[in-house]
Amino acid sequence: MSEPMDDVIRAERLGKTYAEGSLRTPVFDRLDFRVVPGETVAILGASGAGKSTLLHLLGGLDVPSAGEVFVAGHRMSALSDAERGRLRNRALGFVYQFHHLLPEFTALENVMMPVLLAGQAVDIAQARAKALLESVGLGHRLQHKPGELSGGERQRTAVARALVNQPACVLGDEPTGNLDEKTAANVFALMLELNRAQGTSLVLVTHDRRLAARLDRVLELHEGRLREAPPS
Ligand SMILES: Nc1ncnc2c1ncn2[C@@H]1O[C@H](COP(=O)(O)OP(=O)(O)O)[C@@H](O)[C@H]1O
Ligand SMILES: [Mg+2]
Repeated sequence: MSEPMDDVIRAERLGKTYAEGSLRTPVFDRLDFRVVPGETVAILGASGAGKSTLLHLLGGLDVPSAGEVFVAGHRMSALSDAERGRLRNRALGFVYQFHHLLPEFTALENVMMPVLLAGQAVDIAQARAKALLESVGLGHRLQHKPGELSGGERQRTAVARALVNQPACVLGDEPTGNLDEKTAANVFALMLELNRAQGTSLVLVTHDRRLAARLDRVLELHEGRLREAPPS
């Protein structure tokens, strides 16, 4: 067992209540969660259960109402916005249901972006992005823009972008939710394969219990509690 500070992501007594004017939406409170290096974790839960909220908090994209998130040993609440942004870019990769690629840029440029943001030179960014796109089977689509790619190819590009800085953990919010079953299974298998090859941890929100069962741990978010999912 690793020490707590070795955890890739750790959440302690995490709580989130959305508040807009007099409207308060409690999503969960006192939620504990940890991911160790290389581990793959699925998070299941009904629509509205708070899965996206949880991923946003773990990734430092939103601020918890209570509790703490640690990413690679750093207490997120102790960082400035700029420091949090740098940590996110270096230590985490994100894949969403919709690809969020920049439409004006080619697949190659989209994957280069996080490397450039990390302060690397253009030729290094280009070499790394190209190698990764080749490894996701898109060596022949480097100069295509997102609108010129199929749904599966876009998600593969998004997966390459998430992994290009060799993050400690990839956070996926239903990354295959918008694909047909066969393409979804392919992209899912690719994510697992790349994560294993790079030793990256993976936290994956999914509706698909069958895909979830292929990860090391399956958790279910239900009525504000995160519990081990019963075997399906
Ligand atoms: N920005 C927001 N403001 C207010 N309520 C929100 C906001 N985002 C999400 N919620 C509410 O929080 C709950 C959890 O949402 P979400 O995390 O998106 O669930 P899931 O991803 O599991 O479908 C839902 O009831 C949703 O309506
Ligand atoms: Mg969601």
